[in-house]
Order: sequence, then C-alpha cells, then structure tokens
Amino acid sequence: MKIKSWKVFCFDEVTSTNDVARKLAREAESNFIVVADSQTKGKGQYGRKWESPPGKNLLSTYAVKFPGNFPFELISFVAGNSVAEILSGIGIQVNCKWPNDILANGSKIAGILIEKDEKWYYIGIGLNILWPESKTNFNNKVSWTSIIGEANLTLSRETFINKIAGSFDYWRSKNRKDILDKYNSFWKDKNKMVKIDIDGNWLPGKLISILNDGGVEAELNCGEKVYIYSSAKLNYEY
Ligand code: BTN
Repeated sequence: MKIKSWKVFCFDEVTSTNDVARKLAREAESNFIVVADSQTKGKGQYGRKWESPPGKNLLSTYAVKFPGNFPFELISFVAGNSVAEILSGIGIQVNCKWPNDILANGSKIAGILIEKDEKWYYIGIGLNILWPESKTNFNNKVSWTSIIGEANLTLSRETFINKIAGSFDYWRSKNRKDILDKYNSFWKDKNKMVKIDIDGNWLPGKLISILNDGGVEAELNCGEKVYIYSSAKLNYEY
C-alpha cells in the first residue's frame, strides 16, 4: 500500500513497530510507515511498556530520512502538531503535554516515541482509537482515553494513517516559527504547577513557555527562571 509518498508496511503482530521500522530501514530508500494490529513488546518512553489490545488502536511508526539540517529538537513538535491537528479536526480538545504526550480533557489519548540512528528517525505514534472505551484510570498517576471515549466516533485506522502522513509532510516542510506557533496553540500548560529536578532536588514551580530551541521555560516558586530540556527533569504531579 502507498499513501502519498509513503510506502506502508502492515503486519498482524510485531514486537514493536519502531523496531521493525529500524530493520526495514536497512533496505529502504525513502520514507515509510509500519503499522501493526498488535505489539508483543510495544515501547513507551523511559523503557516503559506500551499496552494496547489487538486491533483496537493505531500502532504506527513513521520512518523518516530527515534532511541533514532538519533540527532534531523540532521533530517532537512536528509529530505533536500532526496528531493534535487531526484530533482537534474531529472535535476533540487536545493539550500537547511537552514534550511527547497528547491529552484529551486531561487524559492521555496518544503517545509519541522518537528514536533515531545515523540516517533515520523513527517516530512511533500510539493513538488510542477504540480502547479504552471510555476515560479510564489504570493506575493512580495517568488516566487514559480514546477517540471513541471522547468523540463517540469511529474512523478507520487507514484514515488516521493517511491524515497523519499528510500532516507530517506539511509540518516538516514548515519553518521553526510556524511549527512552534502551531505547537503553542495546542500547549495548554502555561502556569501549570510542576516539580523540577534541580541538582537532584525536586523544587516546585510553574511552566511559562515553550522555547524556540525546543525546551520549556519554568519559574521556580522562589522566582528563579529555569530552562528544561529533558522530560526526566519535569514532574507534572505537583
Ligand atoms: C509514550 O510513552 O507515551 C510513547 C508511546 C509510543 C507508543 C507507540 S505505539 C507504536 C510505536 N511502537 C512502539 O513500540 N511504541 C510506539
């Protein structure tokens, strides 16, 4: 199957679409997408697992040969814009939680895992379409939701792959300001109270803005401004 300039590889079951993409990239010449019904070793951020029952959600990796000069720090925003734009287009209010989560009404609806090697970026997107059926709290930290849970709407996975690919092509052709302006329009965490790791101590503060260089600016309760470049340094549970 082909979507615009993207070749699409579909599988019933894989370990992880990101891992399969990495293998396929050895033979690939241009951008491609890997989609699977289920993953036995779906990967989330920080070595976490990404769970999804077979056939319910979108499990996809967009393997992209970025031009050598494309700034790596913008890839999260290109991916975030692509997913957020589609969701907001079907009437779901989204918040892009810096750097890689997409929330709908405060619950996680999509996650993005970006990996790279010398030539390729592997942009793994897990988008909850049919599961969970409604807003669900699987553990006491993160609550989850899905498109069916938010919009009571069923669009096929193909439709989402198609739209994400189109949106992705669009946003990666844009300049830094356009990409960041769009991301900012989906970023609803200004003034959100958080904890920030300062030399091993978690200090309270609030988020101020997304920075041009891809980081986030925060202000500690003592008034000092800090600049965060790793989500490992940021705790959203205040
Ligand atoms: C996160 O922790 O929020 C990121 C989750 C990313 C999950 C997707 S599902 C498709 C792709 N393949 C993987 O193994 N992970 C990503």
